[in-house]
Amino acid sequence: MSLYLDNAATSYPKPDSVYDAVNYALREIGVGPGRGGHRRGMAATRLVFEAREAVAALLGIADSSRVVFTHSATEALNMAFFGLLLPGDHVVTTTMEHNSLVRPLHLLQERGVQVTWVEADRRGFVTAAQVAEALRPGTRLVALSHCSNVTGSIQPITEIGRAARAAGAFFLVDAAQSAGMIPINVSSMGIDLLAAPGHKGLMGPQGTGVLYVAEGIELTPLIVGGTGGFSSGPEQPATMPERLESGTLDTPGIAGLKAGIEFIREVGIEAIAAKEQRLITSLVEGLRAIPGVTCHGPLPDEPRGGVASFTVEDTDPQEIGFRLDHDYDISVRVGLHCAPAAHRTIGTYPGGTVRVSPGYFTTERDIEDFLAALREIVGKG
Ligand code: ALA
Repeated sequence: MSLYLDNAATSYPKPDSVYDAVNYALREIGVGPGRGGHRRGMAATRLVFEAREAVAALLGIADSSRVVFTHSATEALNMAFFGLLLPGDHVVTTTMEHNSLVRPLHLLQERGVQVTWVEADRRGFVTAAQVAEALRPGTRLVALSHCSNVTGSIQPITEIGRAARAAGAFFLVDAAQSAGMIPINVSSMGIDLLAAPGHKGLMGPQGTGVLYVAEGIELTPLIVGGTGGFSSGPEQPATMPERLESGTLDTPGIAGLKAGIEFIREVGIEAIAAKEQRLITSLVEGLRAIPGVTCHGPLPDEPRGGVASFTVEDTDPQEIGFRLDHDYDISVRVGLHCAPAAHRTIGTYPGGTVRVSPGYFTTERDIEDFLAALREIVGKG
C-alpha cells in the first residue's frame, strides 16, 4: 500500500494529460513565448495565451491579460503586496494566514505599513463583521486566505469582499487551498487580487502560479527586465501582463497547468468539490470516532475544504507522521504547515498537527486504509 494524502502541499498524481503536456512543450516546442517570430516561438506564445484564457475562464475573469503567470502563490502574493502597499497604508488580515502572506506583510510592517491581524475563532473562522470592525477610513487592502491550509476552514469571502468594497479597500484572496477545488468567480465575489499556486488544486506542476489583478489596479513590478516584445526602451512596459512578467516564462510548467485546468473544466469544478466533500466527511467522521484523537477546525456542519488536521493525546504529531510513512507508506504533513499563527489561534502551537489532505484521485478505500492504519498506531500507543 502506498498512499499519498498530502494534496494540500502538492496535488499528486496529476491527470495524464498534464505529464503529456509538459513533455510536449519541452520536446516539441522547446522555447519560450514572445522570443522570436519563428514557428516555435509562435507556438509557445499561443500556448501561454490559451493557458491564460483557461485560468480566466475557470475564475470568472473577463480579461485574460489581467492574469499574470508566476512561479508560485508566494511570488504572486509578494507581487501584490510589494506592488501595491506604501508606508502609511493600512491592511486588514487574519491570524489564520500562511507564511507566504504573513512574512511579506510582516516585512512591510517593519517598513511602515500598518497591519491589523483579525483574530479567528478556535475553529479557524473570521466573520465579515470582525473584518468590517477592523477597517479604517483609508484602509488600502483586506487580504486573507479563502481556505486555511491547517484547518480547512472556508472564510465567508463574498461577505468580507463586500465589507472591503464598502470601505473603499481592495480585496485580495489567497486561493492556495481553494483554486481548482472550490468554485471561484472574481467578479461575483468582488475579488480585486487573487493569488493561486499551479501545483495544488489546479493540478499543474510545481513552480507555477498565477496572480489576478483587477482592471484599474497598477502594481509596481517586483522585478523588471525582458518581456519579449516592447524592447526598444529602458522602461518596463505599462501593458499587462508584460508589466509583471519579466524573464522567459516556464512554458513546460504553464503547458502542464493549462492541461490541469482543462481537466478540471472537463470534470467540472462542482463535481470535484462534491467528491472532495464526500472524502473529507468520511475522513473527519472516522477521525472523530477514534478515542484519543482530536480533530481540529470546522464542526461537521461548517464549511470545510479538503484538509483535516488532528492531534493524538500525549503523542507528538511527528511521531504519528513518521509511523504512517515508515510502517504504512502513507504520506501526510505534520507540524506547523508554515502557518504558526493559525496553530496559535486554534491552540495547537508549537507542536502542530497531523494534516491529511485527500485529492481528486483519492478513493473512499484510501480513506478507510488510512483510518485503519491510524487506529493501529493509536492502539499501539
Ligand atoms: N502551503 C503548502 C502546505 O500547506 C505547502 O503544505
